Amino acid sequence: MSVFITRRIPAAGEARLREAGVEFEVGQPIDDTPVPREVLLAGVRDHDVVLSLLTERIDREVLTANPRLRGVSNMAVGLDNVDCAAAEELGIPVGNTPGVLTDATADLAWALLMAASRHVAAGHRFMLEGRFELWGPEMFCGVDVGPGVDGRRKTLGIVGYGRIGRACARRARGFDMDVVACGRSLDAPAAAREDGVHWLALPDLLERADFVSLHCPLNDATHHLLGAAEFARMKSQAVLVNTARGPVVDEAALVTALRAGEIGAAGLDVFEREPVTAPGLLELDNVVALPHIGSATRATRDRMAVMAADNAVRFLAQPRG
Ligand code: GLV
Repeated sequence: MSVFITRRIPAAGEARLREAGVEFEVGQPIDDTPVPREVLLAGVRDHDVVLSLLTERIDREVLTANPRLRGVSNMAVGLDNVDCAAAEELGIPVGNTPGVLTDATADLAWALLMAASRHVAAGHRFMLEGRFELWGPEMFCGVDVGPGVDGRRKTLGIVGYGRIGRACARRARGFDMDVVACGRSLDAPAAAREDGVHWLALPDLLERADFVSLHCPLNDATHHLLGAAEFARMKSQAVLVNTARGPVVDEAALVTALRAGEIGAAGLDVFEREPVTAPGLLELDNVVALPHIGSATRATRDRMAVMAADNAVRFLAQPRG
């Protein structure tokens, strides 16, 4: 019995497998290098459980490569890279890492919200380029996140009121914001009510919010949830934050909306075709972009790796259903 780890995971995860006496092989031991598809398929064929990262497409071809496959343990909370419907049909359990990355991801969403609102990245670039020669009153003027000098409470719109969306709402309290939310999860409206968060339909949320932060999973219903029509509804100074999944946003339409001043700025940790970004996106001064690091704190990534290892060990112990 053994585990195929697609690409290297934090040492804490490998240590957990060793502690459990489980043998494993790493498909791609070189960091920052994808695992070739044929290596992935051969690895799945030769082992009993696959421990994958969000960079691997675990589709029907992978799931059927080994009739003895006992499970897929994805080291991520998102499962959009795994064909979960096929896995269910084939009786292959799929695991993810919910809970442990809630605060890390909400913190990063907040960092992007602040950075995009106050031109932190553009100002930093300006310093690096040696262009700071004289302070001026018009330099890098952004928008207030808190009530600010005009005393107007800002509204944060949260799309997807799960664990991370809720953690973002908690952060908004410290900035005296009003929070509105929308989403599809059945228990989310009750959670919102409990948190004093107003539940709205997406179009109303987009019209009302000064800041929109995405926290929904990627699936057929949320693919391109925000496109040209949705940006047209938003306030011209609105700031969009995406730490969920890139394809939730039509990235080409976002570039157009940002260029046209239909919305004010965007803070993005995820992209539609990672690691590629839409033409023109990174040239915009009102964009702050990060390389999908929402859960990247040392402690969180270690916990994710251990959780993924535990899921893999559990799958090894149970015969395929
Ligand atoms: C990261 O994006 C994750 O889904 O864990």
